[in-house]
Amino acid sequence: MAKELSRNEHLKAGSRQLRGTLNEGLGFEPSGAISEDDQQLVKFHGMYLQDDRDLRGERSRKKLEKAFAFMVRVRIPGGVCNPEQWLAMDYIGRTYGNGTMRLTTRETFQFHGIIKSNARATIRKLDSVLLNSIAACGDINRNVLAASNPHQSRAHAMAYDLCKAVSDHLLPKTRAYREIWIDNEKVAEGGAEPVEVDEPLYGKAYLPRKFKVVVAVPPSNDIDVFAHDLGYIAILDEAGTLQGWNVTIGGGMGMTHGDTKTYPRTGDIVGFCKPGDALKVAEAVMTIQRDWGDRSNRAHARLKYTVEDYGLDTWRKEIDKRAGITLEDPKPFTFTHTGDRYGWTEGEDGRHHLTLFIENGRIKDWADGGPQLMTGLREIAKIHDGEFRMTANQNVIIANISRENRPAIEKLAAEHGLTWEASALRRNAMACVALPTCGLALAESERYLPTLVTALEDRLDAHGLSDKDIVIRMTGCPNGCARPYLAEIGLVGKGPGRYNLYLGAAFDGSRMSKLYAEDVDHDGIVNTLDPLFAAYARERKDDEHFSDFVIRAGYVAATTNGADFHANTGAKRAVAVA
Ligand code: HEM
Ligand code: SF4
Repeated sequence: MAKELSRNEHLKAGSRQLRGTLNEGLGFEPSGAISEDDQQLVKFHGMYLQDDRDLRGERSRKKLEKAFAFMVRVRIPGGVCNPEQWLAMDYIGRTYGNGTMRLTTRETFQFHGIIKSNARATIRKLDSVLLNSIAACGDINRNVLAASNPHQSRAHAMAYDLCKAVSDHLLPKTRAYREIWIDNEKVAEGGAEPVEVDEPLYGKAYLPRKFKVVVAVPPSNDIDVFAHDLGYIAILDEAGTLQGWNVTIGGGMGMTHGDTKTYPRTGDIVGFCKPGDALKVAEAVMTIQRDWGDRSNRAHARLKYTVEDYGLDTWRKEIDKRAGITLEDPKPFTFTHTGDRYGWTEGEDGRHHLTLFIENGRIKDWADGGPQLMTGLREIAKIHDGEFRMTANQNVIIANISRENRPAIEKLAAEHGLTWEASALRRNAMACVALPTCGLALAESERYLPTLVTALEDRLDAHGLSDKDIVIRMTGCPNGCARPYLAEIGLVGKGPGRYNLYLGAAFDGSRMSKLYAEDVDHDGIVNTLDPLFAAYARERKDDEHFSDFVIRAGYVAATTNGADFHANTGAKRAVAVA
Protein backbone atom coordinates (compact mmCIF):
# COMPACT_ATOMS: atom_id res chain seq x y z
CA MET A 1 0.00 0.00 0.00
CA ALA A 2 1.24 3.48 -0.85
CA LYS A 3 2.24 5.48 2.21
CA GLU A 4 0.17 8.44 3.32
CA LEU A 5 1.46 11.66 1.78
CA SER A 6 2.78 14.29 4.17
CA ARG A 7 0.72 17.38 4.84
CA ASN A 8 2.94 19.61 2.69
CA GLU A 9 2.31 17.36 -0.32
CA HIS A 10 -1.43 18.02 -0.16
CA LEU A 11 -0.76 21.68 0.35
CA LYS A 12 1.52 22.01 -2.69
CA ALA A 13 -0.77 20.01 -4.95
CA GLY A 14 -3.80 22.08 -3.96
CA SER A 15 -2.02 25.45 -4.07
CA ARG A 16 -2.90 26.34 -7.69
CA GLN A 17 0.76 26.48 -8.60
CA LEU A 18 1.94 28.08 -5.37
CA ARG A 19 -0.71 30.77 -5.07
CA GLY A 20 -2.60 29.57 -2.01
CA THR A 21 -4.20 32.59 -0.40
CA LEU A 22 -1.05 34.69 -0.47
CA ASN A 23 -2.66 37.59 -2.27
CA GLU A 24 -5.40 37.88 0.30
CA GLY A 25 -2.96 37.37 3.18
CA LEU A 26 -0.69 40.16 2.03
CA GLY A 27 -3.63 42.56 1.94
CA PHE A 28 -4.87 41.65 5.43
CA GLU A 29 -3.68 44.63 7.44
CA PRO A 30 -4.56 43.81 11.07
CA SER A 31 -1.78 41.22 11.23
CA GLY A 32 1.88 41.22 10.19
CA ALA A 33 1.66 37.49 9.53
CA ILE A 34 0.17 35.26 6.84
CA SER A 35 -1.65 31.97 7.30
CA GLU A 36 0.28 28.83 8.23
CA ASP A 37 -0.33 27.22 4.87
CA ASP A 38 0.81 30.34 3.07
CA GLN A 39 3.95 30.37 5.22
CA GLN A 40 4.88 27.08 3.58
CA LEU A 41 4.06 28.33 0.09
CA VAL A 42 5.83 31.67 0.45
CA LYS A 43 9.12 29.76 0.72
CA PHE A 44 8.82 28.94 -2.98
CA HIS A 45 8.72 32.69 -3.54
CA GLY A 46 12.02 33.06 -1.68
CA MET A 47 10.69 34.13 1.68
CA TYR A 48 10.31 32.88 5.23
CA LEU A 49 7.93 34.49 7.67
CA GLN A 50 9.91 35.03 10.87
CA ASP A 51 9.61 37.02 14.05
CA ASP A 52 12.17 38.83 16.14
CA ARG A 53 12.76 36.30 18.91
CA ASP A 54 14.51 38.87 21.10
CA LEU A 55 11.21 40.72 21.35
CA ARG A 56 8.93 37.76 22.02
CA GLY A 57 8.78 38.10 25.82
CA GLU A 58 8.18 41.82 25.82
CA ARG A 59 5.52 41.66 23.12
CA SER A 60 3.74 38.81 24.79
CA ARG A 61 3.65 40.74 28.08
CA LYS A 62 2.10 43.65 26.24
CA LYS A 63 -0.35 41.26 24.56
CA LEU A 64 0.94 42.21 21.14
CA GLU A 65 1.37 39.73 18.33
CA LYS A 66 4.94 38.63 17.60
CA ALA A 67 7.15 41.10 15.70
CA PHE A 68 6.65 39.41 12.34
CA ALA A 69 8.83 40.17 9.34
CA PHE A 70 9.95 38.34 6.22
CA MET A 71 13.39 37.07 5.41
CA VAL A 72 13.81 37.52 1.65
CA ARG A 73 16.46 35.49 -0.18
CA VAL A 74 17.53 36.53 -3.67
CA ARG A 75 18.16 34.10 -6.52
CA ILE A 76 21.53 34.93 -8.05
CA PRO A 77 23.02 32.00 -9.99
CA GLY A 78 26.75 31.77 -9.32
CA GLY A 79 26.48 34.76 -6.99
CA VAL A 80 27.24 37.16 -9.82
CA CYS A 81 25.71 40.64 -9.75
CA ASN A 82 26.58 43.98 -11.31
CA PRO A 83 27.12 47.30 -9.48
CA GLU A 84 23.61 48.53 -10.32
CA GLN A 85 22.17 45.40 -8.76
CA TRP A 86 24.40 45.83 -5.72
CA LEU A 87 23.10 49.36 -5.24
CA ALA A 88 19.51 48.13 -5.46
CA MET A 89 20.27 45.50 -2.84
CA ASP A 90 21.88 48.10 -0.61
CA TYR A 91 18.77 50.26 -1.03
CA ILE A 92 16.48 47.38 -0.02
CA GLY A 93 18.59 46.59 3.05
CA ARG A 94 18.49 50.20 4.23
CA THR A 95 14.94 51.11 3.21
CA TYR A 96 12.87 47.99 3.80
CA GLY A 97 15.15 45.68 5.78
CA ASN A 98 16.93 45.97 9.12
CA GLY A 99 19.72 48.15 7.74
CA THR A 100 21.99 45.22 6.91
CA MET A 101 22.50 42.63 4.18
CA ARG A 102 23.48 39.04 4.79
CA LEU A 103 25.74 37.17 2.34
CA THR A 104 24.80 33.52 2.60
CA THR A 105 26.64 30.20 2.36
CA ARG A 106 24.97 29.68 -1.01
CA GLU A 107 26.28 32.71 -2.91
CA THR A 108 23.41 35.06 -2.45
CA PHE A 109 21.85 37.84 -0.36
CA GLN A 110 19.30 37.66 2.38
CA PHE A 111 17.36 40.54 3.83
CA HIS A 112 15.88 40.38 7.30
CA GLY A 113 13.15 42.44 8.90
CA ILE A 114 11.02 43.09 5.81
CA ILE A 115 7.57 43.77 7.22
CA LYS A 116 4.55 42.59 5.27
CA SER A 117 3.63 46.01 3.95
CA ASN A 118 7.13 46.34 2.44
CA ALA A 119 7.31 42.90 0.88
CA ARG A 120 5.93 43.84 -2.53
CA ALA A 121 8.08 46.98 -2.74
CA THR A 122 11.13 44.80 -2.01
CA ILE A 123 10.34 42.34 -4.77
CA ARG A 124 9.58 45.14 -7.21
CA LYS A 125 12.91 46.79 -6.45
CA LEU A 126 14.63 43.47 -7.19
CA ASP A 127 12.62 43.20 -10.38
CA SER A 128 13.73 46.68 -11.47
CA VAL A 129 17.31 45.40 -11.69
CA LEU A 130 16.30 42.06 -13.24
CA LEU A 131 16.62 40.04 -10.05
CA ASN A 132 14.05 37.94 -8.22
CA SER A 133 13.62 35.57 -5.33
CA ILE A 134 11.72 32.80 -7.15
CA ALA A 135 12.61 29.35 -5.87
CA ALA A 136 15.22 30.71 -3.43
CA CYS A 137 13.60 28.52 -0.74
CA GLY A 138 11.02 25.70 -0.86
CA ASP A 139 10.84 22.18 -2.35
CA ILE A 140 12.37 23.12 -5.65
CA ASN A 141 15.71 23.68 -7.34
CA ARG A 142 17.37 26.43 -5.30
CA ASN A 143 20.03 28.97 -6.20
CA VAL A 144 22.71 27.21 -8.24
CA LEU A 145 26.32 27.84 -7.16
CA ALA A 146 29.49 27.98 -9.22
CA ALA A 147 33.18 28.16 -8.30
CA SER A 148 33.50 31.73 -7.24
CA ASN A 149 35.20 33.75 -9.88
CA PRO A 150 34.25 33.21 -13.53
CA HIS A 151 37.00 35.60 -14.58
CA GLN A 152 39.75 33.57 -13.02
CA SER A 153 40.09 31.09 -15.87
CA ARG A 154 38.24 29.66 -18.86
CA ALA A 155 37.19 26.71 -16.72
CA HIS A 156 35.58 29.06 -14.18
CA ALA A 157 33.71 30.76 -17.00
CA MET A 158 32.40 27.39 -18.17
CA ALA A 159 31.39 26.49 -14.64
CA TYR A 160 29.40 29.70 -14.49
CA ASP A 161 27.79 29.01 -17.88
CA LEU A 162 26.69 25.56 -16.69
CA CYS A 163 25.42 27.00 -13.40
CA LYS A 164 23.34 29.60 -15.24
CA ALA A 165 22.02 27.04 -17.74
CA VAL A 166 20.96 24.64 -14.96
CA SER A 167 19.35 27.47 -13.03
CA ASP A 168 17.35 28.64 -16.06
CA HIS A 169 16.40 25.13 -17.13
CA LEU A 170 15.07 24.10 -13.72
CA LEU A 171 13.10 27.27 -13.02
CA PRO A 172 9.43 26.75 -12.27
CA LYS A 173 7.04 28.00 -14.95
CA THR A 174 4.23 29.11 -12.62
CA ARG A 175 3.21 32.72 -13.05
CA ALA A 176 2.21 33.01 -9.41
CA TYR A 177 5.32 34.99 -8.42
CA ARG A 178 4.83 37.80 -10.95
CA GLU A 179 1.14 37.80 -10.39
CA ILE A 180 1.31 38.11 -6.60
CA TRP A 181 4.33 40.33 -6.10
CA ILE A 182 4.63 42.44 -9.23
CA ASP A 183 1.36 42.56 -11.16
CA ASN A 184 -1.14 42.14 -8.34
CA GLU A 185 -3.02 45.35 -9.03
CA LYS A 186 -3.53 44.39 -12.65
CA VAL A 187 -4.77 40.97 -11.70
CA ALA A 188 -7.12 42.39 -9.08
CA GLU A 189 -8.54 45.04 -11.41
CA GLY A 190 -9.08 42.67 -14.29
CA GLY A 191 -10.64 40.15 -11.95
CA ALA A 192 -9.18 37.46 -14.20
CA GLU A 193 -8.66 33.93 -12.90
CA PRO A 194 -4.98 33.12 -12.45
CA VAL A 195 -3.53 31.32 -15.43
CA GLU A 196 -2.24 27.82 -14.72
CA VAL A 197 0.56 26.86 -17.07
CA ASP A 198 2.22 23.57 -17.83
CA GLU A 199 4.86 22.75 -15.19
CA PRO A 200 6.59 19.90 -17.04
CA LEU A 201 9.57 19.34 -14.72
CA TYR A 202 7.74 19.70 -11.43
CA GLY A 203 4.12 18.70 -11.90
CA LYS A 204 1.53 19.87 -9.39
CA ALA A 205 3.39 18.99 -6.20
CA TYR A 206 6.93 20.16 -7.07
CA LEU A 207 9.74 18.20 -5.36
CA PRO A 208 9.63 16.16 -2.14
CA ARG A 209 12.21 18.53 -0.57
CA LYS A 210 14.74 21.20 -1.51
CA PHE A 211 17.17 20.44 -4.35
CA LYS A 212 20.61 22.03 -4.44
CA VAL A 213 23.04 22.11 -7.36
CA VAL A 214 26.66 23.34 -7.46
CA VAL A 215 29.55 23.48 -9.94
CA ALA A 216 33.17 23.19 -8.72
CA VAL A 217 36.53 23.85 -10.36
CA PRO A 218 39.41 21.94 -8.71
CA PRO A 219 41.71 22.43 -6.93
CA SER A 220 39.31 24.70 -5.03
CA ASN A 221 36.25 23.14 -3.42
CA ASP A 222 34.99 26.56 -2.36
CA ILE A 223 31.38 25.60 -3.02
CA ASP A 224 31.61 22.41 -0.92
CA VAL A 225 30.49 20.14 -3.72
CA PHE A 226 29.86 17.12 -1.50
CA ALA A 227 27.30 19.00 0.63
CA HIS A 228 24.71 19.31 -2.15
CA ASP A 229 22.14 17.11 -3.88
CA LEU A 230 23.81 17.39 -7.29
CA GLY A 231 27.32 18.58 -8.04
CA TYR A 232 29.61 18.93 -11.02
CA ILE A 233 33.39 18.82 -10.73
CA ALA A 234 35.24 20.27 -13.73
CA ILE A 235 37.74 17.90 -15.30
CA LEU A 236 40.40 19.80 -17.23
CA ASP A 237 43.24 18.66 -19.48
CA GLU A 238 46.79 19.94 -19.00
CA ALA A 239 46.09 23.01 -21.11
CA GLY A 240 43.15 23.88 -18.85
CA THR A 241 40.52 22.92 -21.42
CA LEU A 242 37.30 21.42 -20.07
CA GLN A 243 36.91 17.70 -20.81
CA GLY A 244 33.66 17.23 -18.95
CA TRP A 245 32.29 16.90 -15.44
CA ASN A 246 32.41 14.34 -12.66
CA VAL A 247 28.86 14.21 -11.32
CA THR A 248 28.11 13.89 -7.60
CA ILE A 249 24.73 13.04 -6.09
CA GLY A 250 23.35 12.64 -2.60
CA GLY A 251 25.02 15.29 -0.45
CA GLY A 252 23.06 17.09 2.23
CA MET A 253 23.61 18.49 5.70
CA GLY A 254 20.38 18.47 7.69
CA MET A 255 19.59 16.06 10.52
CA THR A 256 17.59 15.98 13.74
CA HIS A 257 19.21 15.70 17.17
CA GLY A 258 18.57 12.28 18.68
CA ASP A 259 17.18 10.69 15.49
CA THR A 260 19.87 8.49 13.98
CA LYS A 261 17.72 7.75 10.95
CA THR A 262 18.54 11.30 9.90
CA TYR A 263 22.14 12.22 9.09
CA PRO A 264 24.29 14.54 7.02
CA ARG A 265 25.85 12.86 4.03
CA THR A 266 28.63 13.61 1.56
CA GLY A 267 27.67 13.10 -2.07
CA ASP A 268 28.97 10.17 -4.14
CA ILE A 269 30.56 10.51 -7.54
CA VAL A 270 28.17 8.68 -9.84
CA GLY A 271 30.13 9.08 -13.07
CA PHE A 272 31.58 11.47 -15.65
CA CYS A 273 29.63 13.27 -18.34
CA LYS A 274 30.62 15.22 -21.44
CA PRO A 275 30.09 19.01 -21.40
CA GLY A 276 27.16 18.76 -23.81
CA ASP A 277 25.34 16.24 -21.60
CA ALA A 278 25.51 18.13 -18.30
CA LEU A 279 22.10 19.77 -18.58
CA LYS A 280 20.42 16.47 -19.45
CA VAL A 281 22.01 14.98 -16.34
CA ALA A 282 20.57 17.78 -14.18
CA GLU A 283 17.09 17.19 -15.52
CA ALA A 284 17.43 13.43 -15.10
CA VAL A 285 18.67 13.63 -11.50
CA MET A 286 15.99 16.10 -10.49
CA THR A 287 13.12 14.21 -12.09
CA ILE A 288 14.30 10.90 -10.59
CA GLN A 289 14.19 12.54 -7.18
CA ARG A 290 10.78 14.01 -8.04
CA ASP A 291 9.47 10.52 -8.82
CA TRP A 292 11.37 8.38 -6.31
CA GLY A 293 11.81 10.74 -3.33
CA ASP A 294 9.86 10.00 -0.15
CA ARG A 295 6.76 12.19 -0.08
CA SER A 296 5.38 10.62 3.08
CA ASN A 297 8.11 11.66 5.52
CA ARG A 298 9.82 15.00 5.14
CA ALA A 299 12.67 13.91 7.41
CA HIS A 300 13.49 11.21 4.84
CA ALA A 301 12.70 13.15 1.69
CA ARG A 302 16.06 14.60 0.62
CA LEU A 303 17.82 13.04 -2.34
CA LYS A 304 20.57 11.70 -0.04
CA TYR A 305 18.09 9.20 1.41
CA THR A 306 16.79 8.27 -2.04
CA VAL A 307 20.40 7.44 -2.99
CA GLU A 308 20.79 5.32 0.15
CA ASP A 309 17.45 3.57 -0.49
CA TYR A 310 17.96 2.74 -4.17
CA GLY A 311 21.76 2.48 -4.36
CA LEU A 312 24.20 4.29 -6.60
CA ASP A 313 24.08 1.67 -9.39
CA THR A 314 20.33 1.94 -9.79
CA TRP A 315 20.66 5.72 -9.87
CA ARG A 316 23.41 5.55 -12.50
CA LYS A 317 21.30 3.35 -14.77
CA GLU A 318 18.27 5.56 -14.39
CA ILE A 319 20.28 8.73 -15.10
CA ASP A 320 21.63 7.05 -18.26
CA LYS A 321 18.13 6.06 -19.29
CA ARG A 322 16.47 9.41 -18.69
CA ALA A 323 19.34 11.49 -20.11
CA GLY A 324 19.90 9.13 -23.06
CA ILE A 325 23.64 8.91 -22.33
CA THR A 326 26.16 6.57 -20.77
CA LEU A 327 27.91 8.05 -17.77
CA GLU A 328 31.61 7.18 -17.92
CA ASP A 329 33.81 6.23 -14.98
CA PRO A 330 34.82 9.21 -12.84
CA LYS A 331 38.06 10.95 -13.81
CA PRO A 332 40.84 11.82 -11.32
CA PHE A 333 40.96 15.29 -9.75
CA THR A 334 42.36 16.89 -6.61
CA PHE A 335 40.79 19.34 -4.21
CA THR A 336 43.05 21.20 -1.81
CA HIS A 337 40.69 23.40 0.22
CA THR A 338 37.13 24.64 0.73
CA GLY A 339 37.45 28.26 1.87
CA ASP A 340 38.22 31.43 -0.05
CA ARG A 341 41.61 32.92 -0.80
CA TYR A 342 41.63 36.58 0.26
CA GLY A 343 43.19 39.68 -1.21
CA TRP A 344 44.13 40.62 -4.75
CA THR A 345 44.45 38.21 -7.67
CA GLU A 346 44.93 38.71 -11.37
CA GLY A 347 42.93 36.66 -13.87
CA GLU A 348 44.21 35.01 -17.07
CA ASP A 349 43.02 38.12 -18.92
CA GLY A 350 44.93 40.61 -16.74
CA ARG A 351 41.87 41.98 -14.92
CA HIS A 352 42.06 42.35 -11.13
CA HIS A 353 39.95 40.83 -8.35
CA LEU A 354 39.75 41.62 -4.66
CA THR A 355 38.32 38.97 -2.31
CA LEU A 356 37.07 40.51 0.94
CA PHE A 357 36.52 38.65 4.18
CA ILE A 358 33.07 39.52 5.56
CA GLU A 359 32.67 38.07 9.04
CA ASN A 360 29.66 35.71 8.93
CA GLY A 361 28.52 37.45 5.75
CA ARG A 362 26.95 40.33 7.67
CA ILE A 363 27.25 43.59 5.74
CA LYS A 364 26.53 46.55 7.96
CA ASP A 365 28.02 49.73 9.28
CA TRP A 366 29.36 48.79 12.70
CA ALA A 367 28.92 51.32 15.49
CA ASP A 368 31.64 53.02 17.52
CA GLY A 369 34.16 53.54 14.74
CA GLY A 370 33.93 49.91 13.56
CA PRO A 371 34.17 48.95 9.89
CA GLN A 372 31.66 50.66 7.60
CA LEU A 373 31.04 47.66 5.38
CA MET A 374 27.71 48.71 3.94
CA THR A 375 28.84 52.24 3.09
CA GLY A 376 32.22 51.08 1.80
CA LEU A 377 30.72 48.56 -0.59
CA ARG A 378 28.11 51.07 -1.72
CA GLU A 379 30.84 53.61 -2.53
CA ILE A 380 32.77 50.93 -4.39
CA ALA A 381 29.64 49.94 -6.35
CA LYS A 382 29.26 53.53 -7.50
CA ILE A 383 32.62 53.51 -9.30
CA HIS A 384 33.14 49.81 -10.05
CA ASP A 385 33.25 48.79 -13.73
CA GLY A 386 33.18 45.01 -13.17
CA GLU A 387 30.94 42.77 -11.06
CA PHE A 388 30.48 41.52 -7.52
CA ARG A 389 30.74 37.78 -6.84
CA MET A 390 29.27 36.36 -3.69
CA THR A 391 31.13 33.28 -2.51
CA ALA A 392 29.77 30.16 -0.84
CA ASN A 393 31.76 31.13 2.27
CA GLN A 394 29.76 34.29 2.95
CA ASN A 395 32.36 36.56 1.39
CA VAL A 396 32.42 38.86 -1.61
CA ILE A 397 34.80 39.31 -4.51
CA ILE A 398 35.01 42.68 -6.20
CA ALA A 399 35.72 41.14 -9.55
CA ASN A 400 36.90 42.17 -12.97
CA ILE A 401 38.45 45.47 -11.94
CA SER A 402 40.30 47.41 -14.62
CA ARG A 403 43.91 48.37 -13.97
CA GLU A 404 42.87 52.05 -13.92
CA ASN A 405 40.16 51.50 -11.30
CA ARG A 406 42.25 49.42 -8.93
CA PRO A 407 43.85 52.24 -6.90
CA ALA A 408 40.51 53.93 -6.21
CA ILE A 409 38.92 50.66 -5.07
CA GLU A 410 41.93 49.82 -2.96
CA LYS A 411 41.61 53.20 -1.25
CA LEU A 412 37.86 52.90 -0.59
CA ALA A 413 38.27 49.37 0.76
CA ALA A 414 40.99 50.48 3.17
CA GLU A 415 39.15 53.63 4.28
CA HIS A 416 36.01 51.69 5.22
CA GLY A 417 37.73 48.86 7.06
CA LEU A 418 37.00 46.26 4.39
CA THR A 419 40.52 44.86 4.27
CA TRP A 420 41.25 44.17 7.92
CA GLU A 421 43.61 41.30 8.67
CA ALA A 422 41.59 38.61 10.42
CA SER A 423 43.38 35.65 12.02
CA ALA A 424 43.71 32.34 10.17
CA LEU A 425 40.95 30.80 12.31
CA ARG A 426 38.55 33.71 11.78
CA ARG A 427 39.17 33.72 8.02
CA ASN A 428 38.04 30.09 8.00
CA ALA A 429 34.98 30.60 10.22
CA MET A 430 31.32 30.58 9.22
CA ALA A 431 28.13 30.84 11.24
CA CYS A 432 24.52 30.55 10.17
CA VAL A 433 22.10 33.34 11.03
CA ALA A 434 20.24 31.66 13.94
CA LEU A 435 18.96 34.09 16.59
CA PRO A 436 17.12 36.40 16.62
CA THR A 437 15.44 35.75 13.25
CA CYS A 438 15.57 32.02 12.59
CA GLY A 439 12.59 30.24 14.10
CA LEU A 440 14.50 26.95 14.24
CA ALA A 441 17.52 28.13 16.21
CA LEU A 442 18.19 26.34 19.49
CA ALA A 443 21.28 28.40 20.27
CA GLU A 444 23.10 31.55 19.13
CA SER A 445 25.37 31.30 16.14
CA GLU A 446 26.22 34.45 14.13
CA ARG A 447 26.12 36.62 17.26
CA TYR A 448 28.30 34.26 19.28
CA LEU A 449 30.89 32.70 16.98
CA PRO A 450 33.10 35.85 16.84
CA THR A 451 33.45 35.73 20.65
CA LEU A 452 34.30 32.05 20.64
CA VAL A 453 36.84 32.58 17.88
CA THR A 454 38.55 35.26 19.98
CA ALA A 455 38.86 32.81 22.87
CA LEU A 456 40.20 30.08 20.59
CA GLU A 457 42.64 32.48 18.91
CA ASP A 458 44.12 33.03 22.33
CA ARG A 459 44.57 29.27 22.83
CA LEU A 460 46.01 28.74 19.37
CA ASP A 461 48.39 31.62 19.96
CA ALA A 462 49.55 30.04 23.22
CA HIS A 463 50.49 26.89 21.29
CA GLY A 464 52.18 28.74 18.43
CA LEU A 465 49.43 27.82 16.00
CA SER A 466 48.14 31.29 15.06
CA ASP A 467 48.96 30.94 11.40
CA LYS A 468 47.30 27.53 10.93
CA ASP A 469 44.25 27.46 8.70
CA ILE A 470 41.60 25.54 10.63
CA VAL A 471 38.04 25.50 9.34
CA ILE A 472 35.47 26.22 12.07
CA ARG A 473 31.72 26.47 11.50
CA MET A 474 28.75 26.91 13.79
CA THR A 475 25.00 26.55 13.41
CA GLY A 476 22.20 27.24 15.84
CA CYS A 477 20.48 23.92 15.11
CA PRO A 478 21.24 20.64 13.35
CA ASN A 479 19.79 21.70 9.98
CA GLY A 480 23.30 22.67 9.07
CA CYS A 481 22.92 25.86 7.03
CA ALA A 482 26.61 26.75 7.46
CA ARG A 483 27.69 23.16 6.68
CA PRO A 484 29.14 22.49 10.15
CA TYR A 485 29.59 18.74 9.54
CA LEU A 486 32.16 19.59 6.88
CA ALA A 487 34.23 21.76 9.22
CA GLU A 488 37.38 20.64 11.01
CA ILE A 489 35.74 22.07 14.14
CA GLY A 490 31.94 21.98 13.91
CA LEU A 491 29.56 23.33 16.55
CA VAL A 492 25.86 22.62 16.39
CA GLY A 493 23.38 24.26 18.76
CA LYS A 494 21.71 21.96 21.27
CA GLY A 495 20.02 24.49 23.57
CA PRO A 496 20.70 27.99 24.87
CA GLY A 497 24.49 28.38 25.20
CA ARG A 498 25.15 24.68 24.52
CA TYR A 499 26.60 22.93 21.51
CA ASN A 500 27.60 19.56 20.19
CA LEU A 501 31.24 19.57 19.10
CA TYR A 502 32.20 17.70 15.94
CA LEU A 503 35.77 17.08 14.79
CA GLY A 504 37.63 15.52 11.91
CA ALA A 505 36.05 16.77 8.67
CA ALA A 506 38.60 17.03 5.89
CA PHE A 507 40.07 20.43 5.04
CA ASP A 508 39.20 19.83 1.38
CA GLY A 509 35.53 19.07 2.11
CA SER A 510 35.67 15.38 1.15
CA ARG A 511 35.04 13.78 4.58
CA MET A 512 32.50 14.62 7.27
CA SER A 513 33.16 15.06 10.95
CA LYS A 514 32.24 12.95 13.96
CA LEU A 515 30.55 13.89 17.23
CA TYR A 516 33.32 14.36 19.80
CA ALA A 517 31.68 16.04 22.79
CA GLU A 518 28.04 16.62 23.57
CA ASP A 519 26.22 19.56 25.07
CA VAL A 520 29.22 21.75 25.88
CA ASP A 521 29.13 25.43 26.80
CA HIS A 522 31.66 28.16 26.05
CA ASP A 523 34.19 27.08 28.65
CA GLY A 524 33.58 23.46 27.77
CA ILE A 525 34.39 24.09 24.12
CA VAL A 526 37.57 26.02 24.89
CA ASN A 527 38.72 23.53 27.53
CA THR A 528 38.01 20.56 25.26
CA LEU A 529 39.87 22.01 22.32
CA ASP A 530 42.85 23.45 24.20
CA PRO A 531 44.62 20.12 24.93
CA LEU A 532 43.94 18.98 21.36
CA PHE A 533 45.62 22.14 20.10
CA ALA A 534 48.53 21.41 22.44
CA ALA A 535 48.86 17.88 21.07
CA TYR A 536 48.57 19.15 17.50
CA ALA A 537 51.36 21.65 18.16
CA ARG A 538 53.59 18.89 19.59
CA GLU A 539 52.90 15.91 17.40
CA ARG A 540 51.69 17.03 13.99
CA LYS A 541 53.46 16.08 10.80
CA ASP A 542 54.53 18.71 8.29
CA ASP A 543 51.52 20.26 6.60
CA GLU A 544 49.14 17.96 8.45
CA HIS A 545 45.71 19.56 8.88
CA PHE A 546 44.13 19.64 12.33
CA SER A 547 41.30 17.33 11.26
CA ASP A 548 43.65 14.71 9.81
CA PHE A 549 45.73 14.91 12.99
CA VAL A 550 42.87 14.29 15.42
CA ILE A 551 41.95 11.15 13.46
CA ARG A 552 45.52 9.87 13.03
CA ALA A 553 46.31 10.50 16.67
CA GLY A 554 43.22 8.50 17.62
CA TYR A 555 41.15 11.21 19.32
CA VAL A 556 38.15 10.70 17.12
CA ALA A 557 37.04 8.13 14.53
CA ALA A 558 36.76 9.10 10.85
CA THR A 559 33.35 9.33 9.21
CA THR A 560 33.37 7.66 5.84
CA ASN A 561 29.84 8.51 4.77
CA GLY A 562 26.44 9.54 6.06
CA ALA A 563 25.28 6.12 7.10
CA ASP A 564 28.14 5.81 9.60
CA PHE A 565 27.90 9.38 10.84
CA HIS A 566 26.29 8.31 14.11
CA ALA A 567 28.51 5.26 14.67
CA ASN A 568 31.59 5.20 16.86
CA THR A 569 31.13 8.69 18.27
CA GLY A 570 32.76 10.35 21.26
CA ALA A 571 36.32 10.81 22.41
CA LYS A 572 38.40 7.76 21.52
CA ARG A 573 41.58 8.64 23.36
CA ALA A 574 42.15 10.33 26.66
CA VAL A 575 43.65 13.73 26.30
CA ALA A 576 46.91 14.44 28.09
CA VAL A 577 46.45 17.62 30.10
CA ALA A 578 49.55 19.78 29.89
C1 HEM B 1 16.03 20.90 6.78
C2 HEM B 1 17.03 21.68 6.76
C3 HEM B 1 16.99 23.19 6.75
C4 HEM B 1 16.03 24.08 7.14
C5 HEM B 1 14.64 23.79 7.67
C6 HEM B 1 16.59 25.39 6.94
C7 HEM B 1 15.94 26.56 7.25
C8 HEM B 1 16.56 27.77 7.20
C9 HEM B 1 16.02 28.99 7.72
C10 HEM B 1 14.70 29.15 8.42
C11 HEM B 1 16.91 29.96 7.46
C12 HEM B 1 16.74 31.41 7.75
C13 HEM B 1 17.51 31.87 8.89
C14 HEM B 1 17.53 33.37 8.92
O1 HEM B 1 18.03 33.97 7.99
O2 HEM B 1 17.04 33.95 9.90
C15 HEM B 1 18.01 29.38 6.79
C16 HEM B 1 19.13 30.03 6.36
C17 HEM B 1 20.01 29.50 5.44
N1 HEM B 1 20.11 28.19 5.08
FE1 HEM B 1 18.97 26.75 5.77
N2 HEM B 1 17.83 25.27 6.42
C18 HEM B 1 18.12 23.95 6.29
C19 HEM B 1 19.28 23.40 5.82
C20 HEM B 1 20.22 24.11 5.07
C21 HEM B 1 21.39 23.55 4.46
C22 HEM B 1 21.82 22.11 4.55
C23 HEM B 1 22.03 24.57 3.81
C24 HEM B 1 23.29 24.58 2.97
C25 HEM B 1 24.04 23.59 2.65
C26 HEM B 1 21.25 25.74 4.04
C27 HEM B 1 21.53 26.98 3.56
C28 HEM B 1 21.07 28.10 4.14
C29 HEM B 1 21.62 29.38 3.87
C30 HEM B 1 22.67 29.69 2.83
C31 HEM B 1 20.96 30.26 4.70
C32 HEM B 1 21.23 31.73 4.79
C33 HEM B 1 22.03 32.14 5.93
C34 HEM B 1 23.39 31.55 6.07
O3 HEM B 1 24.27 31.79 5.22
O4 HEM B 1 23.62 30.90 7.08
N3 HEM B 1 20.17 25.43 4.81
N4 HEM B 1 17.78 28.04 6.65
S1 SF4 C 1 21.22 26.00 10.90
FE1 SF4 C 1 19.31 26.04 12.02
S2 SF4 C 1 19.54 27.86 13.31
FE2 SF4 C 1 20.98 28.09 11.69
S3 SF4 C 1 19.90 29.28 10.10
FE3 SF4 C 1 19.72 27.09 9.61
S4 SF4 C 1 17.78 26.51 10.44
FE4 SF4 C 1 18.36 28.42 11.48
